[in-house]
Amino acid sequence: MGVTKKLGDVPPDTDRLAFREWNDDDLDRFHAICSDPQVMQFVADGQAWTKDRTGQFIQFAAEMLREYGYCQWALICKADDKLIGYCGFVKSDNDSEIGWRLAPEYWGKGLATEAARAALEHGMMTLRFRRVIATAQTANLASARVIEKLGMTLERRFDRDGREVMIFSANAG
Ligand SMILES: CC(C)(COP(=O)(O)OP(=O)(O)OC[C@H]1O[C@@H](n2cnc3c(N)ncnc32)[C@H](O)[C@@H]1OP(=O)(O)O)[C@@H](O)C(=O)NCCC(=O)NCCS
Repeated sequence: MGVTKKLGDVPPDTDRLAFREWNDDDLDRFHAICSDPQVMQFVADGQAWTKDRTGQFIQFAAEMLREYGYCQWALICKADDKLIGYCGFVKSDNDSEIGWRLAPEYWGKGLATEAARAALEHGMMTLRFRRVIATAQTANLASARVIEKLGMTLERRFDRDGREVMIFSANAG
């Protein structure tokens, strides 16, 4: 008999990464990521976050986890045991939206794709999502490539505050 999974589980470790809930000690480290203009270039209006805004994100993730049993989990690099960003889900209208953000020194190693595959599998198999969406500004080539590698399907493009955004989906068979 398989292990019974429950709502509130985090996605399983991958070869190089672990998911976990946020804790209060994460604020400074995560803010170093969110205050970097290079990281935030294609996030919403492209503005780097204030520390308050970073704190709100962590708070919101904790609330999401309590209410829905999932969130945009903290992502840990197992090699150095550091918080390197997040990957996970946020509720978006009737859908669950998958997303990611990594510290730049960890880019270009396939880590976002590795995390996203594990999160998407967890979403479909354990959380029983019927449908997951992902959005990326069209100019965000790295994020669009991660979505493409996940095998998600482009649904449409739309303008959000002067920036073209693409919306993709993965649907349970
Ligand atoms: C998007 C992000 C998470 C990708 O992380 P990552 O670990 O480097 O991603 P991966 O290595 O798994 O895959 C990135 C892919 O994009 C490609 N890529 C990266 N920059 C690119 C660019 N400027 N043009 C074209 N392709 C690019 C890589 O070559 C790779 O594809 P490949 O495996 O076919 O070679 C990271 O860049 C990030 O945190 N960006 C800032 C936050 C952000 O934009 N989040 C998403 C908001 S929608």
